[in-house]
Amino acid sequence: QSVLSVVSEVFPLIKTGGLADVAGALPAALAPEGIRMVTLVPGYPAVMAALELRETLYSFPDLFGGRADLIGAHAAGLDLLVIDAPHLYARGGNPYVGYDGRDWPDNAVRFAALSAVGAFVGGGHLPAFVPDVVHAHDWQAGLTAAYLYYGGGRRPPTVMTVHNLAFQGQFPAEMFGALGLPPHAMSVEGVEYYGMIGFLKAGLRLSDRITTVSPTYAAEIRTPEGGMGLDGLLRTRARVVSGIVNGIDDVLWSPERDPMIKRNFDASTIDLRLDNKIALQARLGLEADPNALLFAVVSRLTWQKGLDMLLGCVGAVTSLGAQLVVLGAGDRDLEAGFRDAARAHPGRIATVIGYDEGLAHQIQAGADALLVPSRFEPCGLTQLSATRYGALPIVARVGGLADTVIDANEMARAQGLGTGFQFSPVSRDMLEAAMLRAADLWQDKAAWRQLQMNALATDVSWRGPARRYADLYRALVTAPGGF
Ligand code: ADP
Ligand code: GLC
Repeated sequence: QSVLSVVSEVFPLIKTGGLADVAGALPAALAPEGIRMVTLVPGYPAVMAALELRETLYSFPDLFGGRADLIGAHAAGLDLLVIDAPHLYARGGNPYVGYDGRDWPDNAVRFAALSAVGAFVGGGHLPAFVPDVVHAHDWQAGLTAAYLYYGGGRRPPTVMTVHNLAFQGQFPAEMFGALGLPPHAMSVEGVEYYGMIGFLKAGLRLSDRITTVSPTYAAEIRTPEGGMGLDGLLRTRARVVSGIVNGIDDVLWSPERDPMIKRNFDASTIDLRLDNKIALQARLGLEADPNALLFAVVSRLTWQKGLDMLLGCVGAVTSLGAQLVVLGAGDRDLEAGFRDAARAHPGRIATVIGYDEGLAHQIQAGADALLVPSRFEPCGLTQLSATRYGALPIVARVGGLADTVIDANEMARAQGLGTGFQFSPVSRDMLEAAMLRAADLWQDKAAWRQLQMNALATDVSWRGPARRYADLYRALVTAPGGF
């Protein structure tokens, strides 16, 4: 079977968040299931630069205002279809915003183009690749199902995956004319959303299946509290909504072989992990202290991630004699807050503003506990890498964080279970309480070691999730429909 994945970012070519990790890992994970996944992505400069064995498969004389080529290519082991449309994608900045941090004013047509080409390929117009299923990710690919539906031609089964309901791709109704959809598509049954155009809304309305990246998030988004305005629609479609938790690429994230960390280790050599902690402390200018509990954050610095609450726990970190490293970038005030905290507590708190793949690996390999106090979290990937590397996750009990960490409560520990710590409700006080709970357990070296061993023994790979996606695709091909 073959699946077309329509997505705006794919690791390692272009990444702003976990979406890229998922899109980049799924194809290889699906191969053992006998599924060929081809990934359709915009030809951003970074993507164009990475292409190997490229071949132009089709040319659009006018794709939303300019000529475009559809290129078949390989890169980083991925089977790609790339939209080479310089008028839409040949720009600096990131995929969504310019250097000034503002959205590109033509994002509606830039991602309508991605979706339209997805529907073109899904519709069977590219003889070189006719997919059995079309799988669209997030709002950028949300119109794929709409172009297929209103196009009136071949319509393969469609899956829409929500990686983050906070980003919905809403645009003013005046832009509708530019999308090339028939007038009746501008209705509640189609792309219309509270008088605007809703890309994600259209995908949720018109796809055969809706998935999100964890079972708990799949439940949360059907409630008014977690639905961000789309819960009503998601409740009416509840029958086709499901959650499949993400995995991580266990070749990339492998403490046994990771070339980016100081000392490789596995469960039987976990003592070697300490070398990574010492190296990390040295790199960050933290005091060389094996006994200080080293908390860590690797994250986008945004409201979603709840790190403003962590700023309120800096006093607890220092009074515990613990340490904290924060690696991240995002909101200016959070960046400034963590910079100030580091300045106020040299040797105990270190802040690195920016995106640093290598340091992210070194933190997972050397820190003792990884903090993820998110207000909401569709899945979250850093707690999975932390689990793989034995940095015990301390997480808010929401979304995928609820599904992927086993809280080391009394009962769990009596059974030899527990891989980290959860707290709820999500508040500064409860975050601090969870950090104190971890600090208590840290005093009991044997208990801490037990949790690390549990974590290292947990399967956080793509194998399980890939099987679930494969089952979903197969079910759709045998019994299509849903929408
Ligand atoms: P989200 O997609 O909401 O940002 P995820 O946890 O799903 O959250 O994915 C985040 C991904 O980005 C992970 O692979 C994480 O390691 C990586 N990441 C986030 N911030 C940084 C950073 N500052 N440096 C390096 N990697 C980062
Ligand atoms: C989004 C979510 C994150 C999830 C990722 C990949 O960025 O914020 O929770 O892990 O997508 O699915």
